Amino acid sequence: MLLNSVEKFLMNNPIRSLVQWRHEAAMMERLGGKLTGLRVLEIGCGRGVGTKIILERFEAGEVHAFDLDPDMVRLARERLARYPADRVRLFVGDAENIEATDESFDAVVDFGIIHHCPNWQRTVAEVRRVLKPGGKFFFEEVTKQALDRWFYRTFLDHPTENRFTASQFAAEVESHGIIVGRNTIKWFLGDLIVGAGLRL
Ligand SMILES: C[S@@+](CC[C@H](N)C(=O)[O-])C[C@H]1O[C@@H](n2cnc3c(N)ncnc32)[C@H](O)[C@@H]1O
Repeated sequence: MLLNSVEKFLMNNPIRSLVQWRHEAAMMERLGGKLTGLRVLEIGCGRGVGTKIILERFEAGEVHAFDLDPDMVRLARERLARYPADRVRLFVGDAENIEATDESFDAVVDFGIIHHCPNWQRTVAEVRRVLKPGGKFFFEEVTKQALDRWFYRTFLDHPTENRFTASQFAAEVESHGIIVGRNTIKWFLGDLIVGAGLRL
């Protein structure tokens, strides 16, 4: 589901970028380590801040990144123009039907996009499908508790049915053989969950 104008403003904003670099990436790295030299997929890359974090902070060898919104992909292309084509590939795509072959990535990264998918369970299944055995899944997600808050309901657009709690999200990931265990952090009183799992 595409962002409305309010959420686009909140996402395409230096404060969001700072939170992503300083806090979310730091938590992910603490939970799952670096991705040095690896082939990584970022789902819902937005304007490409996460892609840059995966390249620079996580030291990925190459990052393939997509977003449902062509405007976001265009912004990501501008941000990442200095990287050679063999390190970054950006495209328009849908996380519920990932355009990639089975077991083709060493890691998948989700900076807050799966709560935008009406059939989020299908997206988790897709993440599992494209991950190699032993691959890592890093996630930062927004829970039902947050989506039920007045601000989210009034100003932002999200699917309203079939949302998840932090525990339901981790359980769904684990049901696909991506082991999370206690490797999660509940942030903002459980409004957000950050974690890292390992595909068996
Ligand atoms: C909350 S924003 C997060 C953007 C970016 N990852 C960040 O952290 O700044 C969610 C992003 O997911 C994208 N999106 C929503 N549904 C999607 C889908 N089914 N497949 C791929 N991207 C999707 C939106 O266009 C938006 O860019």
